[in-house]
Amino acid sequence: MKADNGAPMIIAIDGPAAAGKGTLARQISSHFNLAYLDTGLLYRAVGKKVLDAGGDPTDADTAERIARGLAARDLTADGLRLDAVGQAASKVSAVPGVRAALLDFQKDFATSPPAGAAGAVLDGRDIGTVVCPEATAKLFITAGTEVRAERRFKELHEADTTVIYARVLEDMKERDARDSSRSVAPLEPAQDANIIDTSLLSADQVFDQARAYIASKTQKA
Ligand code: DC
Repeated sequence: MKADNGAPMIIAIDGPAAAGKGTLARQISSHFNLAYLDTGLLYRAVGKKVLDAGGDPTDADTAERIARGLAARDLTADGLRLDAVGQAASKVSAVPGVRAALLDFQKDFATSPPAGAAGAVLDGRDIGTVVCPEATAKLFITAGTEVRAERRFKELHEADTTVIYARVLEDMKERDARDSSRSVAPLEPAQDANIIDTSLLSADQVFDQARAYIASKTQKA
């Protein structure tokens, strides 16, 4: 599917951790037949490789070197979803050289989607503001901090019953603060983004709102 001017249809989805971006991105990708890139995985892969090498994720030189050498197989490594890896990802993502190293891959994915897809949906923190400012439609998906911590707690608790909610909430606040206050590409809605607060919505309600918004931008439902 192309946007009306013949360019690939690009859907940018940004927002804080556990707001529902991934669920929405997968629904949009399957409904509109678009390729999907979870850009958080790139930062997670860099964070994990730094940790595995015994490095410090805040050490800019190490993080940038690893980002420059990232390979496709690193994106399917075990443990990328662990909370410790999320924290390391948030730290390496504040390094300007890391962001620069990962930018071209994301832009190429959006403008020349794989497997012949006619468009792409990317989710992350800076898709509408930095990676794809030209996106066909921009969504900013958010929810209250406690709601997001509760969702993340339930997810983690399924794998590990010793997880403590207060700790998850603290980690969430710490990550939000770091992602929003960094000097390069901080988490913030693009000026022309459609903001959806998912605190009181089901995944299907979020999808319905997003689909209506995308339809208003593309004439496609
Ligand atoms: O979406 P996530 O939880 O998988 O992202 C992990 C971290 O990666 C997040 O805390 C910030 C960083 N990130 C980023 O800076 N820019 C993106 N486009 C995606 C993720």
